[in-house]
Amino acid sequence: MTHIDLNQHGNPIRIEITRPDDWHLHLRDGAALQAVVGYTARQFARAIIMPNLKPPVTSVAAARAYRERILAALPEGSDFQPLMTLYLTDNTSPDEIRLAKQSGVVRAVKYYPAGATTNSDSGVTDLSKIHAVLAEMEAQDLPLLLHGEVTDPEIDIFDREKVFIDRHLAPLHERFPRLRMVLEHITTADAVAFVQSANDRIAATITPQHMLYNRNALLVGGMHPHYYCLPILKREQQRQAVLTAAISGNPKFFLGTDSAPHARSAKESACGCAGIFSAHAALELYTTAFAQAGALNKLEGFASHFGADFYGLPRNSGTVVLSQKVWQIPESLAFAKARSADETITDETLVPFLAGEQLAWKLTA
Ligand code: NCD
Ligand code: ZN
Repeated sequence: MTHIDLNQHGNPIRIEITRPDDWHLHLRDGAALQAVVGYTARQFARAIIMPNLKPPVTSVAAARAYRERILAALPEGSDFQPLMTLYLTDNTSPDEIRLAKQSGVVRAVKYYPAGATTNSDSGVTDLSKIHAVLAEMEAQDLPLLLHGEVTDPEIDIFDREKVFIDRHLAPLHERFPRLRMVLEHITTADAVAFVQSANDRIAATITPQHMLYNRNALLVGGMHPHYYCLPILKREQQRQAVLTAAISGNPKFFLGTDSAPHARSAKESACGCAGIFSAHAALELYTTAFAQAGALNKLEGFASHFGADFYGLPRNSGTVVLSQKVWQIPESLAFAKARSADETITDETLVPFLAGEQLAWKLTA
């Protein structure tokens, strides 16, 4: 149960909610994993872990091994639970789906259109090639998580989500009406409308950046690579539709940060990578967005209840507390080591989302 304390003017200064989960997270591997996993583990009880490693996590065996590496990288005493996903390819077999369901370790399967985003080269080239696998997922009730963008070069990057819904998602939902699907990191009014009108098997995750910013943050006054992710930030009207969905209390919309760390050198480059690292302040960013919208009483459902309910998992016990307290996000964080062509090893840094800026809400317990 949400508990909100007000000051003498009636403004919220403290909120206590059930411990939340992150239903879309990139943790990477090796030293990068070691550097970032603690940020998520101190806020969230569980997270759905994306499988877009190099090579991608395409088998239950690989998911189990990756899960062990995540557990080994956790800070001492953490009870954080990684919920694993399989990376869907043209070659995924219905047998692997059955194994995944039985494993109790793999909780979903991730669809990337081939070439859509970071490490998605092995993604599905044509949904019609994988109908047998989708039928098995529907039978096993194993959710399909969708990076919902087409990759056709002739489609404008700002329209790729809408075209994906019209061309692929709507027909897929019609063909497999009992298949549980999550349209991830939604960015448009079209996505909100589709999810609202679909049956209860369809849900969506929402990132902090798509609630808080429109494309001006990316492009006005210079090009700001640390606001670049996919799907790309959209115009203000679309941001408002996404924000309205997040604070609506509709259980089809829940928290998924899509926190996706890339080294500073990979972001600040002539061809900068897509991905925003938000795990350092994820809950604080969402709380800021809900507080700005006057909807703090809707935060707990979005952050802590609806995702677990959709996945058929128990809601968490325990609570977290956020307090109104101005603090500054660091300019950079430690990240992995980089090895250049001449074998020199250098320290890579990670620029956190909103580096150097102030936030008004802080996780205090
Ligand atoms: C993600 C990443 O870096 O792995 N990047 C992103 O912009 N969201 C991949 C993804 O989820 O699209
Ligand atoms: Zn992602």
